[in-house]
Amino acid sequence: MLEEKCDPPPKGKAGENGPFTIETTDLTKRFDQLTAVDSVSIKVNEGEIFGLLGPNGAGKTTLISMLVTMKKPNSGSAFVNGYDVTKNPGEVRNSIGIVFQDPSLDEELTAYENLELHAAMYGIEAKDRKREITSVIKIVDLEDRLNDVVKTFSGGMRRRLEIARGLLHCPKVLFLDEPTLGLDPQTRSSIWDAIRKMKKEKKVTIVLTTHYLEEADALCDRVAIIDHGKIVALDRSETLKNSLGGDIIVIESTDTARLETAFKTLPYAVGIKSLDGKITLKVSNGERKIPELLEVARKEGVEVKAVSLHKPTLDDVFLHYTGRAIREEGVSGKDSMKFRMRAFRARRN
Ligand SMILES: Nc1ncnc2c1ncn2[C@@H]1O[C@H](COP(=O)(O)OP(=O)(O)OP(=O)(O)O)[C@@H](O)[C@H]1O
Ligand SMILES: [Mg+2]
Repeated sequence: MLEEKCDPPPKGKAGENGPFTIETTDLTKRFDQLTAVDSVSIKVNEGEIFGLLGPNGAGKTTLISMLVTMKKPNSGSAFVNGYDVTKNPGEVRNSIGIVFQDPSLDEELTAYENLELHAAMYGIEAKDRKREITSVIKIVDLEDRLNDVVKTFSGGMRRRLEIARGLLHCPKVLFLDEPTLGLDPQTRSSIWDAIRKMKKEKKVTIVLTTHYLEEADALCDRVAIIDHGKIVALDRSETLKNSLGGDIIVIESTDTARLETAFKTLPYAVGIKSLDGKITLKVSNGERKIPELLEVARKEGVEVKAVSLHKPTLDDVFLHYTGRAIREEGVSGKDSMKFRMRAFRARRN
């Protein structure tokens, strides 16, 4: 098993930077007049999937680039696996894996050859390579394509191969920059499965960037919303959504006026409105309140025809903190091209 072969996780400098796998304090990166990453302070726990969610140009790649030592911060500090990204870049690099936003496989080589090249670069001994390649290729479900040339792969398969490659040298943290950019929903979900499997089987900490709300929602243990280089909110997706102040419950009944009067006596129900035979109300922990509301209706002798619950989405959260909808952000020509290239590759097979 690869797990047995992996080196023990780097210890870091005990006591120096606490128990976090990643910790940044006021991390800042400027390009001339533009502050691309603006005083970012985050703590990433061991073994979690941590999402950086933000629109194009928010600063996600720049933040990751500093964590993987490809860009130097202007100010602030960052520790990865206990190593200072400025003082110990070599140690940081040896303890991480990276899957870049832009594709970086050799198209003329087979999947196996691509992985073997990476294994050699990271000093994995020749006798161990085959076994380790077999272990990571299983995680991304590409065993059948191991000896095929990469140029025959779909966009999703290429992405999965890149993820396997990032895992090959047993990193303690894997950085994934826009892992599913431009891929169709089905392919995206197969990549999510691979990422979940990595977390479970390899116990790796994963930091990923995305501007897909569903991806952050479905995959990440915690999400940091980043906008104009600043973290504007950071928590579990559920907590972020709940922080907006509850759920919307809509009840369709035979006597809305009577129900409205009854609901107005409930201390937890706010914003009660009735329209077109339906009552809308805002409550916290909506699922738990539905039985109680139905019981009120029963006691009032009102027949309930339908009940629905609308939970706030990350869209609502982004809007709340930034005043804009993430989906409305325009994409730059460059990103639009990247998106189309990936989508094209994904369709090719
Ligand atoms: N090398 C650079 N020189 C000048 N400006 C840069 C450079 N790299 C990034 N920027 C700018 O910094 C800002 C943040 O860019 P970054 O690539 O980090 O955003 P992002 O959140 O990853 O966006 P995307 O979703 O499009 O990948 C943008 O305004 C970008 O134009
Ligand atoms: Mg980016």
